[in-house]
Amino acid sequence: MNRILAKKQLSADVYEVTVEAPLIAASRRAGQFVIVQIDTDWGERIPLTIADADSGAGTLTMVFQTVGATTHRLAVKNAGDYIENILGPLGNPTHIEKFGRVVCVGGGIGVAPLYPIVQAMKAAGNTVLVIIGARTRELVIFEERMRGYADELVIVTDDGSYGRKALVTAPLEEYCGQNPAPDMSVAIGPPIMMKFCEKTAAEFNVPIMVSLNTIMIDGTGMCGGCRVTVGGQTKFVCVDGPEFDGHQVDFDNMMLRMKAFREREDEDHHSCHLNLGLETV
Ligand code: FAD
Ligand code: FES
Ligand code: MG
Repeated sequence: MNRILAKKQLSADVYEVTVEAPLIAASRRAGQFVIVQIDTDWGERIPLTIADADSGAGTLTMVFQTVGATTHRLAVKNAGDYIENILGPLGNPTHIEKFGRVVCVGGGIGVAPLYPIVQAMKAAGNTVLVIIGARTRELVIFEERMRGYADELVIVTDDGSYGRKALVTAPLEEYCGQNPAPDMSVAIGPPIMMKFCEKTAAEFNVPIMVSLNTIMIDGTGMCGGCRVTVGGQTKFVCVDGPEFDGHQVDFDNMMLRMKAFREREDEDHHSCHLNLGLETV
């Protein structure tokens, strides 16, 4: 059991939880994730990226968006409550080196998993150019934290309520078009956003790393739930990823597979709202 030490609401549907998990906190590296089981009587396990960790205090911080039944169950927990179990750190750490100029693009909740990568890229001596994208002003997260590490920070919103009215691909295209072009780019966000970031980077021959968020079940490479096609080969995101060379990923196939359980997820989401006494959606 892992005790929740703090919980904060960052925006309408985004929460940050800090939990006791000393062994994971001591060994985690940027880009890794955990699999969380909220409570025993509800068995679903969900992957969440480690957004931050404090090895001295033995704590992990995760940032999550309430999108369905399990994330809503986590959102109603408070400081002092317990999470049944947390498995990790899982996945391969991000490949960090001194590339030179690195553009880091985060969309929506993808900004949280991008944060430790921005920190690590900066610590490795890179010039880090960060692009944060959100639908609207109140969904922009991690702005101040990113300012602490980014050499440049561009914020875009779909509706223009904050920063530039644009999609993240607009500033990415501008950075990629500079001479010299960036040495590396990283994109984390909804699959459709990563797909178009990849297309943009490809036009300028800029390498791009993406962190894939496929459905996961066991997180250990045994169930095959997280399989994706990368460079024509089947890969498991939980053990071979979660980061891959974006230019090799078959995003269309991945998006198709992610819709596979939509009907069942919607049923759980609806009954969870009734059980938790939340407004049904
Ligand atoms: P549901 O209604 O069950 O599902 C909503 C959507 O979430 C689905 O359509 C599907 O696309 C996805 N999903 C559902 N079940 C799973 C599952 N078991 N594994 C993965 N995706 C699933 N979200 C965050 O908010 N913050 C994070 O830091 C974060 N990190 C992730 C890291 C990795 C490596 C992966 C693979 C996913 C990550 N996600 C993160 C996504 C998160 O796991 C899903 O939003 C969550 O599982 C949804 O569960 P639900 O029951 O609330 O919603
Ligand atoms: Fe089962 Fe990756 S989650 S193989
Ligand atoms: Mg679910």
